[in-house]
Amino acid sequence: MSVRYHLELTGGDDPEIVAARLWTAGALGVQELPDALVAWFETRQQDVPPGGTWSQQPDEDWLATWREGLEPVRVGRVLVVPTWLAATTPQLEGEVHIELDPGMAFGSGHHATTRLCLGALQDELAPQHRVLDVGCGTGILAIAAALLGAAAIEAVDVDPDAVVATRRNARANGVELDVHLGSAPDAQGSADLVLANLLTPTLHTLAPALVDCLAPDGLLVASGVASERAAGVATALTAAGAAAVGRRDEDGWSVLLHRAPSSHDRDPDPTPRSTS
Ligand SMILES: C[S@@+](CC[C@H](N)C(=O)[O-])C[C@H]1O[C@@H](n2cnc3c(N)ncnc32)[C@H](O)[C@@H]1O
Repeated sequence: MSVRYHLELTGGDDPEIVAARLWTAGALGVQELPDALVAWFETRQQDVPPGGTWSQQPDEDWLATWREGLEPVRVGRVLVVPTWLAATTPQLEGEVHIELDPGMAFGSGHHATTRLCLGALQDELAPQHRVLDVGCGTGILAIAAALLGAAAIEAVDVDPDAVVATRRNARANGVELDVHLGSAPDAQGSADLVLANLLTPTLHTLAPALVDCLAPDGLLVASGVASERAAGVATALTAAGAAAVGRRDEDGWSVLLHRAPSSHDRDPDPTPRSTS
């Protein structure tokens, strides 16, 4: 038996931030409805965003409800297919399929912040590129980079469940990634393309470290930004040394593209990787 928490959203709530608080409180799954969020937990939690209602639910019910809501998602030539739909989803010529079991990590491809990154990745990736995915969640972006032909991919996340999910999903897709626990300062080398789908406050805090991970002329794809806050994040990234070169918007979310100068050099003494 698990418990279900139903939380109505008000006009001022940012669903992404509220969902992140539910994940942080230990949610097993979070489903976004038009004006509400539903989260499932093993037991009732104190530190959830207030104002919702709790109910009991048999485990098989929430897993089925959550899975039923996940359809394949297309972005360009990438189709993200939940593993349980893979057998019944034919792969068309030219399509890149990512088979994904989100488990307890973020990144099924349904959120605009992920879709924006998948779009930018397809437009900007070149075969010789080394890619760094900061906040890999399910590994969706890192796996997409591998299937699209990146030369080497490192993926980091501060959540151990995300590291496990990324490793499992990478195996299921037959790709090799360097996945470890940590964040931008723990990245091992500089990257031609850095993907960072994070919360806006995290992007502000991590701006210098993200830019530091870029190789000369490297491109940072920063997502997870509500459009009304995009200018503030762009200012932080520019101040950290990467010039704004593009922005795309979808469903009230923005992805920001910032490029390092050709003279850019990585800090020669970065903080060593703390955990693996
Ligand atoms: C919005 S999800 C993005 C998941 C996936 N990359 C995608 O695009 O769908 C953000 C992820 O960043 C991780 N995260 C949060 N703060 C972080 C930080 N400071 N450094 C690295 N990862 C972080 C979270 O655990 C979560 O898995």
